[in-house]
Amino acid sequence: MITADLFRDPSDRTTPIRLGEGASLLPGFACDRAEAVFAALEEVLRQAPLRRMRTPGGHVMTVAMTCCGDRGWTSDADGYRYAARDPASGRPWPPMPEVFAELATDAASAAGYPAFVPDTCLINRYVAEAKLSPHQDRDERDLSHPIVSLSLGLPARFQFGGRHRSERLLRTTLEHGDVVVWGGASRLAYHGVLPLATGRHPMTGDCRYNLSFRRAG
Ligand code: SIN
Ligand code: FE2
Repeated sequence: MITADLFRDPSDRTTPIRLGEGASLLPGFACDRAEAVFAALEEVLRQAPLRRMRTPGGHVMTVAMTCCGDRGWTSDADGYRYAARDPASGRPWPPMPEVFAELATDAASAAGYPAFVPDTCLINRYVAEAKLSPHQDRDERDLSHPIVSLSLGLPARFQFGGRHRSERLLRTTLEHGDVVVWGGASRLAYHGVLPLATGRHPMTGDCRYNLSFRRAG
């Protein structure tokens, strides 16, 4: 697999970086609301605790996940799908906090996707060595809506490619408060996260969170 490192000026926290057609990284877009988002996240996690899901192939994922909103993404022996209830508790997923939805709408709009209203947020927690192999987000019903992805806590090496697995993957570091938005021609772009390096972040401790906002229904 071919990869290339994307140049990124660490002192520039305002200029969007193009990752592909219809895909941008908004450096530090959420820094000023990270604290409010994190407080809301902690409340969601109390209601729907993180869990390591099993892939249809029988592997236990290294990333721990949960969801909020009208539906939530789940994986088990039967496959990947969106479900209205948390299979771990049998209860509906916690409602999406307003600060989450506002951030997603604002970031989408800044990236050229006005009026995006998410109906679900997939929450991923990475501890040291946790990773996500390159994949497409394709379980949503209407692919005209973008994916809005927020990073909190420890930095991660992110990979972003094209519609085909064989296409070149760009690599870039995602920092606390960064938002990546992909839609349009990039909606089915392959993306992944390399094994997380050990570290400590003042807000999240020894981990990284990724919140990805989607319109799934
Ligand atoms: C995902 O693809 O669901 C998460 C990507 C990330 O953690 O940055
Ligand atoms: Fe994904």
